[in-house]
Amino acid sequence: METPIHHLVIPDTQAKAGVPTNHLEWIGRYIVDKKPDVIIHLGDHWDMPSLSGYDRGKMKFEGRRYKIDIDSGNAAFDLLNEPIRQYNKRHLTKYNPRKVFLMGNHEHRIETILQDNPFLDGQISFADYDTQDWEVYPYQKVIFIDGVGYVHCYVNNMTGRPLSSRAVLRLDKLGHSFTQGHQQILDYGLKFVRGESQHGLIAGACYIHDEEYKGYQGNAHWRGIIVKHDVKNGSYNPMFVDLDYLCKRYEGMSLEDFKDKKLIRPETPFGDWGVQ
Ligand SMILES: [Fe+2]
Repeated sequence: METPIHHLVIPDTQAKAGVPTNHLEWIGRYIVDKKPDVIIHLGDHWDMPSLSGYDRGKMKFEGRRYKIDIDSGNAAFDLLNEPIRQYNKRHLTKYNPRKVFLMGNHEHRIETILQDNPFLDGQISFADYDTQDWEVYPYQKVIFIDGVGYVHCYVNNMTGRPLSSRAVLRLDKLGHSFTQGHQQILDYGLKFVRGESQHGLIAGACYIHDEEYKGYQGNAHWRGIIVKHDVKNGSYNPMFVDLDYLCKRYEGMSLEDFKDKKLIRPETPFGDWGVQ
């Protein structure tokens, strides 16, 4: 029997100053517990609000700094990696999974800014993202792993804008299993083709905080990671693991209780979060 291959997918973690990062440690610990063969981060980990074109000139843009964005993203990414590092320090048999990071549009903001402001060349760079020993792929590049196409987001070939169609419709169009982040939803579609399963998966939220721009209703969505058991030629058995489950597993309380007891609630649902 072939050795089964397991993937673990981490959707957009949107790390920035002032928001909780506890879930990155939970995911790191879960990775060590489950030891998947491949870990795929779907991108938009470095949120980079200081490079946001949408917010420039608005009141909320005040005080944003490139260095703060880089440092807070790097620190949060390190939390994810720390449990693997600690495990390998304590065990003779090392755990060295393949680790893949797919750049999202938020990381890509550096390239967008440089195109418009070439005088910043040498001042800001993708090299500022401390991606440690992960394989890193550019924004919009599709990477196939065990028959699944992974990318931060699929785009319209004519406009370059991210697609927003449902997973099952995109599965029809692409004709192969795919997984993407970017959209803050969990949308999953399944098809059987010639006796093999094909899976369309869109999952773009893996963070605790609420995003101001999404408003009251937009922040009510699924947040978590996905484990894929027995991945072969694009077929697999999906397991959805939400942040509430991870919180109960590693903090002994629900995510709502954790927010109440361990985090400083913002005055409005959309303010900044702080960790007590
Ligand atoms: Fe994105």
